[in-house]
Amino acid sequence: MGIIHHSATKTLGILTGGGDCPGLNAAIRGVCRAAHDRYGMTILGIANGYRGLVEGDVRLLKPEDFSGILTRGGTILGTSREKLFKPGGFEDHDFSFHSEDKVQAIKEHYQQFNLDCLVVLGGNGTTTTGYRLSQEGLHVIGLPKTIDNDLVGTDRTFGFHSALSIGTEAIDRLHSTAQSHNRVMVIELMGHKAGWLALYAGLAGGGDVILIPEIPYDIHAIGRHLIKRAQSGKTFSIVVVAEGALSCEEGNMEKKDRKKYREKTVKTSIGYRVAQEIELETGMETRATVLGYVQRGGIPSASDRVLATTLGTAAAELLARGEYGKMAALHGTEIRPVDLSVPAGKVKSVPLDYYMLDSAAAVGTCLGR
Ligand code: F6P
Repeated sequence: MGIIHHSATKTLGILTGGGDCPGLNAAIRGVCRAAHDRYGMTILGIANGYRGLVEGDVRLLKPEDFSGILTRGGTILGTSREKLFKPGGFEDHDFSFHSEDKVQAIKEHYQQFNLDCLVVLGGNGTTTTGYRLSQEGLHVIGLPKTIDNDLVGTDRTFGFHSALSIGTEAIDRLHSTAQSHNRVMVIELMGHKAGWLALYAGLAGGGDVILIPEIPYDIHAIGRHLIKRAQSGKTFSIVVVAEGALSCEEGNMEKKDRKKYREKTVKTSIGYRVAQEIELETGMETRATVLGYVQRGGIPSASDRVLATTLGTAAAELLARGEYGKMAALHGTEIRPVDLSVPAGKVKSVPLDYYMLDSAAAVGTCLGR
């Protein structure tokens, strides 16, 4: 081991929260190897996201724990969708904690384990909770993770590129079966609040229609587009739908009304509803595929490995400098810290003037209008 440099952080706790994705273990490796090898920090792994910190489910991570995990999918620490600052217990446990009890438990464990900082790898929920904990006096550093790529303050999140490759390959595969059966094939990709994944994969896979939450769709416009394609001799079409896509009618509803309406009309997934709507609208034989959790599985792409590693080592530098309350983020081709307040409580939606929307339209893609 080389020279051990001075560090403001002696002991850190690291956790992964929210949906898992390829690249989480690469990021854990980046943080831990730099923190341990360059700064001699003690690293405590926190199990299952914030739940582990509430329960005190923490273990010392040794070099062999964060070696050989660069290409492993998922997270060696486990994860959860713990909602600390919202009333209600754990999603899959019947804890009777109230949020203030959980926060108090976290503060006690933070002291008990003698932590100088929490490193939280997560998306909107995890990062916002990290920010709220920093407001409660804990030192927190965030790393931007989600296949949705909908975190404000960073140009990209790790996990997104891997999911993009998975989604694009699925669309490529659907082309051959759509062509063989002269069908309309609908594929639903993840992205509850923002349509980045559907937009990028739709463009990469040559989707004929791309539906994202930011642009409520008009089924009549989609029908006209598909019929025009058929009349021009195209024997099949590919429709890419984000799971948060919604119709114009839904777009005009209040949130609670929309939730009730979708509970009635979306029996399983929006992809199936759109397929049914298309078949009714056009009379064309239509099938649906919901790609689901496949998009979050498997090994990280090379791009995600590089992004996750460089974000991780940048977090170790922030730890060493004692620069807390920040998220390591990608800006262009550089890794720079942003204040945790920047992503907290926000969602990065696809801007309606985003250049890729015009590019998709220019190659003849229908965006639902
Ligand atoms: O946040 C990432 C994500 O994959 C979303 O795209 C998706 O809607 C959600 O997680 C699924 O959540 P869960 O894993 O809790 O079912």
